[in-house]
Amino acid sequence: MNAIHVGLLGLGTVGSGVVQIIENHQDKLMHQVGCPVKVKKILVKNTEKARQIEVDKNILTTEVFDVIHDPEIDVIIEVMGGIEETKTHLLEALKAGKHVVTANKDLMAIYGTELLSVATENGCDLFYEASVAGGIPIIRSLVDGLASDRITKMMGIVNGTTNFILTKMSKFGSPYDAVLKEAQDLGYAESDPTADVEGLDAARKMSILARLGFSMNVDLDDVRVKGISSVTDDDINYSKRLGYTMKLIGIAEEEDGKVEVSVEPTLLPEAHPLASVNDEFNAVYVYGEAVGETMFYGPGAGSLPTATSIVSDLVAVMKNMRLNVTGQSALAPQYKKQIKSLEN
Ligand code: NAP
Ligand code: HSE
Repeated sequence: MNAIHVGLLGLGTVGSGVVQIIENHQDKLMHQVGCPVKVKKILVKNTEKARQIEVDKNILTTEVFDVIHDPEIDVIIEVMGGIEETKTHLLEALKAGKHVVTANKDLMAIYGTELLSVATENGCDLFYEASVAGGIPIIRSLVDGLASDRITKMMGIVNGTTNFILTKMSKFGSPYDAVLKEAQDLGYAESDPTADVEGLDAARKMSILARLGFSMNVDLDDVRVKGISSVTDDDINYSKRLGYTMKLIGIAEEEDGKVEVSVEPTLLPEAHPLASVNDEFNAVYVYGEAVGETMFYGPGAGSLPTATSIVSDLVAVMKNMRLNVTGQSALAPQYKKQIKSLEN
């Protein structure tokens, strides 16, 4: 059977993981979709840069056109980050009939609804499992696993960098700046870590979860956000003495048709399950009216865990291609309106 060709936008921490998984798990991919998967072209900023993995230099390009408009490429995987320029590339890709998989929560939190509707108009898939909580399949769980339930509240740790920093400060008394640098070196932090430490990254992820869980849009300006940059060693030590652990907690709750989202450093009793979620790990509690309380736990950042979610999205796209269907991973608010108008 013919191979499915993939184009990558980005070959940094996450892109390198994607290439590794596609290469090393060919047998599993073959078993899942019945054909080989090949990375045909990769967009980078600098083709001469030393890479984390060995890659054929002939497939690197600095021209996005070469990737998006390659007629053999069926799926674009976006792992370059950024918002406006990246949105332009993804709109172009969708309009050219390419399926898209992205890890970009900044983009999906701001332009997700628009991109999802352009995907639908063009008969394409747009999947974004890796945009929230790295390797935890939380989006799939909300959209499919809990599809029959009414979600009432979600709460969790959804940023790996800040959890890594708070863990090291609390356990070893490590200085904030040194641990932030370590999180950057390990590939957990964003290229500009301000969004991590000021809570914006977590706010964007919580707004994506809220949109999925409650089928309602959340205006990021309405999210109450406080990060950890002002947390001191003293704050952490006093909390510990009183039997509490400090965590950056995101909450999204629906009441009377209104969604409230917040992200704030929060003191949890040491016995609370979220208090023992350490390092770059994330955990999300989802409360459903029928199911009650569920908790999803796993690595929230890093190359291979994040790439696992991306390549699993790729498998979902490829299965859809075989069946000649598309399955959107989210009902965007405009579809909800359409459904409402059908009901009336
Ligand atoms: P990264 O290590 O900084 O890699 C970015 C890659 O994109 C680099 O290969 C870079 O090229 C390329 N790139 C960036 N801007 C470009 C441009 N304008 N034109 C061409 N190429 C460009 O970033 P990352 O950590 O892999 O993150 C990528 C995305 O995944 C982001 O949206 C991030 O939020 C998301 N994400 C990251 C993680 C994580 O743990 N790191 C987890 C979940 C989601 P060069 O290599 O030539 O510089
Ligand atoms: N910078 C993000 C984090 C990457 O630390 O959680 C995963 O989205």
